[in-house]
Amino acid sequence: MEIRPAKRLNHFETGIFASLNEVREGLEKEGRKVYNLFIGTPDFTPPQHVIDALTESAKDPVNWRYSLRESDELLEAVCSYYKDRFGVTLTPDIITAVNGSQEGMGHLGMAICNKDDVVLLPDPGYPAFEAGAYFGEADIQYYPIVKEYGFMPRLDLLPEDLLKRTRYIVLSYPSNPVGAAAPREVYEEVIRYAKKYNFIVINDNAYSDIIFDGREGFSFLSLDGAMEVGAEFFSLSKSFNVTGARISFLIGNKQIIDAMKLLRSQYDFGMFTPIQKAAIAALKGPRECVKEQCAEYQCRRDALCGGLRKLGWDIPDSDGTMFVWAPLPCGYTDSKLFCEELAKKAGVIATPGISFGPRGEGYVRFALVLPPEKLNEAVNAIKESNILK
Ligand SMILES: Cc1ncc(COP(=O)(O)O)c(C=O)c1O
Repeated sequence: MEIRPAKRLNHFETGIFASLNEVREGLEKEGRKVYNLFIGTPDFTPPQHVIDALTESAKDPVNWRYSLRESDELLEAVCSYYKDRFGVTLTPDIITAVNGSQEGMGHLGMAICNKDDVVLLPDPGYPAFEAGAYFGEADIQYYPIVKEYGFMPRLDLLPEDLLKRTRYIVLSYPSNPVGAAAPREVYEEVIRYAKKYNFIVINDNAYSDIIFDGREGFSFLSLDGAMEVGAEFFSLSKSFNVTGARISFLIGNKQIIDAMKLLRSQYDFGMFTPIQKAAIAALKGPRECVKEQCAEYQCRRDALCGGLRKLGWDIPDSDGTMFVWAPLPCGYTDSKLFCEELAKKAGVIATPGISFGPRGEGYVRFALVLPPEKLNEAVNAIKESNILK
């Protein structure tokens, strides 16, 4: 019997990361030195108190049962974190856990979209945004985030008819992949549009703790009117290096949260209790480690961007995130081709900009997942490869 996957899956291609991983394995088999700069998985470790909280909790067999919902202790920890960190007052009823922002974003469209509602997504942008809108049968439209406009959204350039048909817009700053941070005014402007055209704003706040040169990360929910029009994904993945534990929350407008809770109640039973305990420890614990880590990311950015600029590759500094968004050098125009050559000639594996959307073509994304010394080595390998000549 031939079993074909559902037609809806024809929409997706095998992930770019799987094929980049094959490239890495191939080079390693040849005994080549490889600099793995394609996946945004932090190489830092979770704080010890977070690991301890999880392992302690896992020793109690009761904690292996269905958790059914997030504990009051966890929801209160999120509330007090938001108060201290972002100055935002929350109540537990406007928070739901998701199994990572990626999963939450992937299902969001099913909770708040009807067929053919417009969903506005950044191009280039994080691929899970698109998957979520697609599963919600939305009419997916893109707003460009390009150098010309400082990588900021320009809703004033979109047709009014499109704005009228929009159900939700996704914003995400500091931005993966472009590395730009948005000032509050950019969000305030989007909130004004949301009120005028009656659409929802979803902010993906994955990198508020990785932001450079004295900028301050903030929550979208701290802005006037935000709670009325939208919600925010708040992930612990990158701040606390717990990407595998899948700890994230959707927080904001109660109607959005209720819709998401109802959907989630059909396919999930709530976060594993030991992971809830780890999340509580992270949220209530010291935050110096998060700041130190941010400073380390900044040193890495300086090593990579500064190093490549010295070689004549004109790469702007990222404002935040663990990524660098570099225009292709030396007349290259095809980002996949460039990444193949970069891997073959220099052993540096980076992600082609086209994987983040059509407007990502002409760029390559580097992840800052190696210490500065290793990034210096990678810069040197690029120099020796003569790819910039
Ligand atoms: C913009 C953005 N959102 C969400 C995520 C995923 O977060 P989580 O680990 O909570 O699924 C990432 C991870 O790279 C990201 O870059």
